[in-house]
Amino acid sequence: MVFFEWCEQYSVGDDEIDEQHQNLFSFLNEYYDAMLKGRGKDVVDEIFAEMKAYAVYHFKSEEQKMAQVGYPDLEQHKKVHASFVGRIKELEEKKAAGDLLAAVNVAKFLNKWLVEHILGDDKKYSPYMAND
Ligand SMILES: [Fe+2]
Ligand SMILES: [Fe+2]
Repeated sequence: MVFFEWCEQYSVGDDEIDEQHQNLFSFLNEYYDAMLKGRGKDVVDEIFAEMKAYAVYHFKSEEQKMAQVGYPDLEQHKKVHASFVGRIKELEEKKAAGDLLAAVNVAKFLNKWLVEHILGDDKKYSPYMAND
């Protein structure tokens, strides 16, 4: 089932990055669905770990692209990514100790962060990397 969705409005004008953002939403859906269906803790934890690894991979490739096109606010953007990765690690511990409600709140927080980050921060580099 789809709970969190990428939409055209989130496009940053780069197909590869858009696809990575779509994959992040897919991970979120997979995670949320697994929790709601009461799949085992091992399964849920594994999806969360994969989602975290994918987010780190995405941030790296986004930062590389921003560097390639000479995006002036790269350093600030890197800081935002780094602090988010720190937050994910904190949530991972909380979630490990917590109940379904905690896990649902984690998914909602991640979705909110992702949407706000794409619209508020990622969109700013969009004019620098429009597809030709
Ligand atoms: Fe991004
Ligand atoms: Fe970003």
